[in-house]
Amino acid sequence: MRIVRHIHRALTLASAITTIAATALLPGHASAQPAQQSGPIIIKFSHVTTADTPKGKGADRFKHLVEERSGGRVKVEVYPNSTLYKDKEEIEALQLGSVQMLAPALSKFGPLGVREFEVFDLPFIFPNAEVLTRVTEGPVGASLLKKLETRGITGLAYWDNGFKVMSANRPLREVKDMRGLKMRIQSSKVLEAQMRAVGALPQMLAFSEVYQALQTGVVDGTENTTSNYWTQKTSEVQSDMTVSDHGYIGYAVITNKKFWDGLPPDIRALLDQAMKDSTRYVNEIAQQENDEALKKIAASGKTRVITLTPAERESWRQAMLPVHKEMTSRVGKDVIEAIYKEAQSVQAQR
Ligand code: SIN
Repeated sequence: MRIVRHIHRALTLASAITTIAATALLPGHASAQPAQQSGPIIIKFSHVTTADTPKGKGADRFKHLVEERSGGRVKVEVYPNSTLYKDKEEIEALQLGSVQMLAPALSKFGPLGVREFEVFDLPFIFPNAEVLTRVTEGPVGASLLKKLETRGITGLAYWDNGFKVMSANRPLREVKDMRGLKMRIQSSKVLEAQMRAVGALPQMLAFSEVYQALQTGVVDGTENTTSNYWTQKTSEVQSDMTVSDHGYIGYAVITNKKFWDGLPPDIRALLDQAMKDSTRYVNEIAQQENDEALKKIAASGKTRVITLTPAERESWRQAMLPVHKEMTSRVGKDVIEAIYKEAQSVQAQR
């Protein structure tokens, strides 16, 4: 499977390079503008999780809606589970116009130079899902997506996954249990600081490399949502999982700006509506997908699931909270304060 994936990726990269080289020779070329094609508009939607995750189901729903509503004028090819590109490559491929749509985790935008997205990684910043929804669906979320435009990217929507658990091959009940563990993180400086705050050693790895890294002991543990754990079979290589809900994983669905702006207006409107409908669907199913995955992990008998008492969880929170201050200059005071304000407003209404 991995060999097939490597060959596929090599062929795709080779074809992308050939296309870029060929189009670059044309005067006034616009490689990402589908309006000039005679056949259907092709949207390659690449992502790194399996098809049976919130993101995978969202991408498939989007494909279904677009193809049905466009009557064959648009074809969406979905490439799940890093079969086309891995984390870092996929954003580069989007900017080059080799794929038209992605939904990277919000933690993966820092290396692109849009550090404000790492605000979503601050531990315990979202006391509940309502605050999160207000942020992603309100002015804060919109202003973050707007920042992507200078990178040639148009942000279309936010898709939920959910809150994270922490795992290793030993029980993680108290903060001190994390000491000295090599923990896999996504490419986020905030996640790096979070792991250091609890005495662990952060190791940045692509999502597709996590299983093997855990299996071979390159890393000792990881954090993720339960739907990602279950679908990547992570519980085969982790004996203990703590339901800490210490952080969040969500996605920004993004497209190549030049491609998007070059679409016929009626097609763009159709895609926009299909994206709205798929977003509603993903955000409705995400929590349920994670709840079901947690039940399957517990029932598998391979990973012990630890539930923290409120006092235990509070001690994790206290250990990680200094990361907010430490990361303020990187992420931005305004965006952090805007989220605190939403949290206070939700709290006041309860
Ligand atoms: C994803 O959900 O897209 C992957 C998250 C990760 O890299 O852990």
